[in-house]
Amino acid sequence: MIASETSVRINGHEFTQLLSSTKIRRIVQRMGREISEHYKDVKTLHIVVVLSGAAVFAMDLIRELSVPCRLHFIRASSYSGTMNSNGQPEFDIPEMDMQGEHVLVLEDLIDTGTTIIELTKRLKTWRAASLRIAALLAKPEVMSTDVSLAFCGLTIPPVFVVGYGMDFGEMGRELPHIYQLHIAMNEEKQWE
Ligand code: IMP
Ligand code: MG
Repeated sequence: MIASETSVRINGHEFTQLLSSTKIRRIVQRMGREISEHYKDVKTLHIVVVLSGAAVFAMDLIRELSVPCRLHFIRASSYSGTMNSNGQPEFDIPEMDMQGEHVLVLEDLIDTGTTIIELTKRLKTWRAASLRIAALLAKPEVMSTDVSLAFCGLTIPPVFVVGYGMDFGEMGRELPHIYQLHIAMNEEKQWE
C-alpha cells in the first residue's frame, strides 16, 4: 500500500481523497454535539460498536460526547466475511435486558442498509427503551428506505470508500483520511 494525503494505491487500485482528517474531525464533532443534545437527560447511553469498520469512528465520537456511555462491541459471526449463504449478515449478539435503557448503534457506513436492518432486528430482543442508529457516512442512492438513520455525518454518492476504519479487503483501515475508488458501484462488490 502506497499512501499520500491525496491518493492511495491498494492492491493495484487507485483511490483519491474524498474527506480529509480535518473534515472528518469536524463532522464527528458536530455529530457528538447532536447526540449529546438528544440524550442530555439520559443517565447512561449504551453505545453499540459494529466491529471492525466502526471502531475508529466510535472511539473518536465517544470523546465528543457529554453523556455518560457504556460500550458494547458486536462482531459479525462469520470470520470469512459478514454474509451467510442467504446474503444476510450474521452477528454474535450477547443476551441482554436493556429495559428502560437507551441504545445507540454506531456504523461507519450504511450502503444498501442490509447489515444495519438485520442488526437492528436482532437488537430488538434487548427490549431497550430506545434504539437508534448513527452512521458517519450513508449512500442514500442505494440505501433501503427501511433504514431510519437518526444521526448521519455525511451523505455520499455510491462510490467505494476506504480509510478511517473502512477497508478494501481488510486493507486501509488505519488511513486517517477517507479515499474513494474510481469504479462504478454496479461492478462487483469487492469488499464482501
Ligand atoms: P450494507 O449492508 O450494504 O449497508 O453494507 C454495510 C457494510 O458494508 C458497512 O458497514 C461496511 O462495513 C461495508 N461497506 C459498504 N460500503 C463500503 C465501502 O464503500 N467501503 C468499505 N466498506 C463498505
Ligand atoms: Mg461496517
